[in-house]
Amino acid sequence: MKINENTLLEGNKVVLVPYNAEHVPKYHEWMKSPELQQLTASEPLTLEQEYDMQRSWREDNDKCTFIILDKQQWADSSVEEEQCMVGDVNIFLTDPTDPTLAELEIMIAEPSHRGKGIGNEVTRMMMSYGVTKLGVKTFEAKIGLNNQVSIAMFKKLHFQEVSVCEVFKEVTLGMTVDESVRSRLLEDTADMKERDYRQTCSNRREQVPQ
Ligand SMILES: CC(C)(COP(=O)(O)OP(=O)(O)OC[C@H]1O[C@@H](n2cnc3c(N)ncnc32)[C@H](O)[C@@H]1OP(=O)(O)O)[C@@H](O)C(=O)NCCC(=O)NCCS
Repeated sequence: MKINENTLLEGNKVVLVPYNAEHVPKYHEWMKSPELQQLTASEPLTLEQEYDMQRSWREDNDKCTFIILDKQQWADSSVEEEQCMVGDVNIFLTDPTDPTLAELEIMIAEPSHRGKGIGNEVTRMMMSYGVTKLGVKTFEAKIGLNNQVSIAMFKKLHFQEVSVCEVFKEVTLGMTVDESVRSRLLEDTADMKERDYRQTCSNRREQVPQ
C-alpha cells in the first residue's frame, strides 16, 4: 500500500516504519527459521522472491505493512535501522467487496524481544492506524491452534472466536470496532506519534558522529 510509504509511527517501546528493500535481507534470514515458518504458516522464499514480496506489499492496495524497530536501539542514531528490526505487522484487506474487513498479522521475529509487551503495543498501534487511516471496522486474526501465545494475546485484546478450521488447524479470532472499541483504541494509543519517515531518517543520519 502506498499510503504508509513515508509514515513512521512512534510508540513507547517501538517504532514502526514502512517495509523497504533495505529490510529484506534481515527479513529473509528470519524466515529461514522453521519455528517462524510454522508459527506464521509461511513457506520459505528465495531472496529474490522476498524482494518481489516486499514490492507487492508496497504496491498492492490491499496490503499495509510496517517493520517493527526496537525504539531503545533506534534512539541511538549510530545504530543502523536494520540492526533495530525485531518483527513486522500487516493488515490485509481480504475481501474486495468489503474494504472495512482487515486481517491482522504480527510477528516478533527476534525471540529475545518476545514477552516484553511489544506484540501487545504493536497490535494496538496497527489497529488504531487501520481504524483511523484505512477505515477498518472489523479485524480478524487467523492463528494456528497450537500457537497459544498468539491466541492469548489476541483474546486479551478482546478478540473473540469466530470459527475453527480443523483442516488447517487454525482458529479465526475477530473484533468489530464499535464506538467503545474505537475510543479505547484511541485512548490506548494516545501517545503514538506519526512522523515523516524520510525526514526522520535524514535527521537521524545527521546526528551520527563523523
Ligand atoms: C505472538 C506474539 C506476536 C506475541 O508478542 P509478544 O511481544 O511476545 O507478546 P507480549 O509480551 O506483548 O504479550 C501479550 C500477551 O501475549 C500473551 N503471552 C505473551 N507471552 C506469553 C507466554 N510465554 N505464554 C503465554 N502467553 C503469553 C499474554 O496474554 C500477554 O499478555 P500479558 O502480558 O498481559 O499477560 C509473538 O510472541 C510472536 O510474534 N511470536 C512468533 C510469531 C507468531 O506466533 N506470530 C503470530 C502468528 S498468528
